[in-house]
Amino acid sequence: MKHLDEAKKARKNAYVPYSHFKVGATILLKDGTYVHGANIENAAYPLANCAERSALFSLYSQGYKKEDIVSMTIVADTDHPVSPCGACRQVIHELVPKGTPIYLANLKGEIKETDPDDLLPYAFEEFEGDKDA
Ligand code: THU
Repeated sequence: MKHLDEAKKARKNAYVPYSHFKVGATILLKDGTYVHGANIENAAYPLANCAERSALFSLYSQGYKKEDIVSMTIVADTDHPVSPCGACRQVIHELVPKGTPIYLANLKGEIKETDPDDLLPYAFEEFEGDKDA
């Protein structure tokens, strides 16, 4: 599947000298573009950025918006489809439209389809700032 192949390509760019655990994420946009993200670690361990947030921050940084998103696919070398961390679930919930398919996958090609509300029920979203700011 094209979206899984793209996520695997994204995974190749992971910078993981500490965990050696590579993760790739790709976001398909309505114009057919795939925006890639990989996990990027640091000697100061807590500063690592997960693949999911790398992809989403890249997408917004390039001027795309949540309305442009069709789906998101995440892949790692895991026994079961990789499961995003809590921080990424919070970020996905705010930056990806409700109901968007999120495909969790592994290198064996197993795929589980989920969505932002499945990943984070009762998400924090009370702070209604100016989202255009
Ligand atoms: N990681 C991700 O990039 N995404 C996930 O869904 C789970 C964890 C990264 C963070 C760190 O670089 C490495 O995997 C080990 O936790």
